Amino acid sequence: MEQAEQTVVTPEQLYEAMLADYPDHVRGTRPVHTVGVGATGYFEPSRVAGQYTAAEHFAGGRVPVAVRFANGSGSPTVRDGARDVRGLSVKFHLAGGGATDLVMISLPLFFAATPGEFLGFARAGVPVPRRAPSALDKVLDALRLRASAPPSDTTADGLAGVMAYADANPSVRPGTVAALSLVTPTSYARVAYHALHAFKLTNGDGVVRYGRFSWEPVAGVRPHLDARPPDDYLRDELAARLQRDPARFVLRMTVAGQGDPVDDPTRWWDTTRVRVVMGELVVTGVADDQVAAGERISFNPTRLVPGFECSHDPILVARGMVYELSCRERGGTGCPMGSGSP
Ligand code: HEM
Repeated sequence: MEQAEQTVVTPEQLYEAMLADYPDHVRGTRPVHTVGVGATGYFEPSRVAGQYTAAEHFAGGRVPVAVRFANGSGSPTVRDGARDVRGLSVKFHLAGGGATDLVMISLPLFFAATPGEFLGFARAGVPVPRRAPSALDKVLDALRLRASAPPSDTTADGLAGVMAYADANPSVRPGTVAALSLVTPTSYARVAYHALHAFKLTNGDGVVRYGRFSWEPVAGVRPHLDARPPDDYLRDELAARLQRDPARFVLRMTVAGQGDPVDDPTRWWDTTRVRVVMGELVVTGVADDQVAAGERISFNPTRLVPGFECSHDPILVARGMVYELSCRERGGTGCPMGSGSP
């Protein structure tokens, strides 16, 4: 299997490689995280948040937000029961009419340190037709004392390619292992989501720190215990839950210390680092207009504001351009990116 590509990678290459991973993808929709649900609510920063950042949405008081929960796949088929990545994207509406976004997934680590590595990973994951295990496969499974593969709901997948790629590229391995350990949640509101990159925070005194962010569900993380959860329960579950009560998430920031890489989302940080509660997200209802709030809305992890800015993580920088391209391709709202655009 090929090593990660080192050459300059274009947004178009990354975008096309992602599309190739989902042969049933429908043009005009998101290349990944295609199935999702838009919701509304607000964010309330904590009292200490302002000590770390001068960004407007951490200054104090409630900030209205648009939220989108999503599955990870680029297929248009609703497959809530799959062991897939889940996403939580939040758009903070700022006082002057601008916006800033925070885009997170349920993986604690990413599986690529550079755009070249991501390109190689995406290409390695192009699905190939699955063949049924032969009698010999079954005997070999038993002799190696390994669990046989779980039954799949698709006729093709790219797992073998991804595993071979991870084998050849050590930095891809931790994120791949994390992806293989994903569970199916009982609710979008019972998942912990992570932004993975470090962001550069500057406070009112000009002090700079780097932090990683997570949304922690106040209701707690809860995996589905059924061996085969239904394929379409997450949207209805969320609507029913929000009719009873809002869903809350604590925004937790881990502050980088000496030696923690702030430009590499494949590596863990020291677990003893300072962790700060930066605020609370309160999701109050499913949006009435799912075309505007679920399909057309566009998030971009580099749509940031002074006081809360990008690090030099090359994956984060590349994402900015790919999301913008994707937004244009599917006619999303809020392109081109920038702190002033919604
Ligand atoms: C090089 C790495 C990555 C590339 C090229 C990439 C690309 C994309 C693209 C093109 C979209 C669709 C955007 C749109 O049309 O609006 C998307 C959606 C998304 N991505 Fe990524 N992504 C990458 C890494 C990540 C990471 C590290 C995270 C989380 C920390 C993430 C989370 C999401 C989420 C949650 C969505 C759905 C956004 C929504 O609800 O509209 N992605 N990604």
